[in-house]
Amino acid sequence: MPLENSSAPSRSESRKATGRHSWLRISSWVLGSAFLGILLVALTNHAVIWSSSNNYCGTACHSMTWAAAAYQQSPHYINLVGVRASCGACHIPYDSGHATAGEYVKLLLFKADRGAKDFWGEARKSIATKEEWEKRRPALSNTFETYLTRHNYITCRGCHSLDSFGGPRSHMKMVIHQGQAKDDAYDCLQCHANIGHVYEEPSAKLGGWYSVEQATAGAKLFADSCSMCHGAGLEGGGGPALTGVTWQQRFGGAKLLAPWGEIKGPMAQYAGKTFTTQQSLDILAYLLQQNGLAAGNQPLADTRQLSVTLPEK
Ligand code: HEC
Ligand code: HEC
Ligand code: HEC
Ligand code: HEC
Repeated sequence: MPLENSSAPSRSESRKATGRHSWLRISSWVLGSAFLGILLVALTNHAVIWSSSNNYCGTACHSMTWAAAAYQQSPHYINLVGVRASCGACHIPYDSGHATAGEYVKLLLFKADRGAKDFWGEARKSIATKEEWEKRRPALSNTFETYLTRHNYITCRGCHSLDSFGGPRSHMKMVIHQGQAKDDAYDCLQCHANIGHVYEEPSAKLGGWYSVEQATAGAKLFADSCSMCHGAGLEGGGGPALTGVTWQQRFGGAKLLAPWGEIKGPMAQYAGKTFTTQQSLDILAYLLQQNGLAAGNQPLADTRQLSVTLPEK
């Protein structure tokens, strides 16, 4: 009787063992790939978050030195509530924490595209000095503004809802932003220039914001539409005084945007008028003149000029 036969496995047994083997191999493959997948996703997500952080964008990247310094002068870095918007919060249109699967893929594609360009730029040291930076800044700024406009300011609106303002002048803020929301074509920077980055010295320019001719035009509009409530000499009446202590208390340290918003928004309604942007700027110029702020050579011509701060006395 052939001994080998008794110790050797039968054919069906050996088939079973091979089956078990390949089964084991397949399941360890599946498990291994799943593990690798999870690791990869975790690493990718980590890289996405890290490469969108202030640390990476603001300090690791030399060419961003000046943008990062200007960001630190902005209300999104220092504010009363102590909430800081990171570089990625404004510059990257998808939030990795709350993205759907589809958005996550778009986020990865966005990062891959941006990352490659940034890496290439950094590697070529295309922005190594402050002079080079100054030269490149307008174009970079433009590109990003176009991007924001095309995406309807999605990142800004992710943090700010424009129908729930509290605090002082909340009525004006509602009225002013309503016009925006209606046509669903937002343009935040049209009124909020310097909101992400402030490059000028805070006190570099105080006054000189309007021209004398403009204030004269504004005086006429004021006499027609405002004086019945605020007095011919701005001394007050049905409405508050618009000079002296009252003005200081309301607008000292505020941006020019604040009194302009009152004029263009609720006060136009009170007067039963709609002012063009230029008319509302002319009236503002008149109020500035009456509050002792010196005229300059150029008129106020654009709401982008309203991000400067009124003196605090
Ligand atoms: C509150 C939103 C916001 C935050 C936070 C923010 N940015 Fe910006 N960034 C903008 C806006 C808006 C512009 C375009 C208009 C401008 O220049 O202000 C811009 C422009 C830029 C530009 C183009 C050049 C320029 O300055 O105009 C660069 C580069 C830039 N940002 C990098 C960064 C980096 C790096 C950080 C973080 C250290 C950062 N940004 C944080 C909103 C933001
Ligand atoms: C991560 C959330 C976040 C993002 C994104 C963000 N903001 Fe803000 N924003 C804030 C916080 C927090 C403040 C400070 C609130 C305060 O001081 O009461 C603020 C303040 C402001 C203010 C008032 C401060 C001032 O000086 O006028 C404006 C205007 C503003 N943001 C506009 C924008 C615009 C425009 C964008 C898009 C370019 C944007 N924000 C993106 C969180 C954000
Ligand atoms: C037509 C001009 C205009 C446009 C466009 C505009 N805003 Fe404003 N915004 C104002 C004015 C005026 C104020 C009040 C400023 C003040 O009181 O100092 C204001 C105030 C704010 C504040 C501060 C609110 C507070 O309680 O202090 C935030 C935040 C803000 N705007 C966000 C936005 C965002 C986001 C967009 C774009 C989706 C936008 N704004 C578009 C005019 C505008
Ligand atoms: C029907 C009366 C009336 C008219 C017309 C009117 N205002 Fe007013 N105005 C008021 C009242 C009342 C307030 C106090 C705040 C409020 O009720 O919103 C005020 C507040 C203001 C403020 C804010 C001052 C503060 O204390 O916060 C400014 C600036 C202002 N008006 C300017 C104007 C200008 C400029 C015009 C002309 C375009 C005008 N007003 C037309 C009644 C009026």
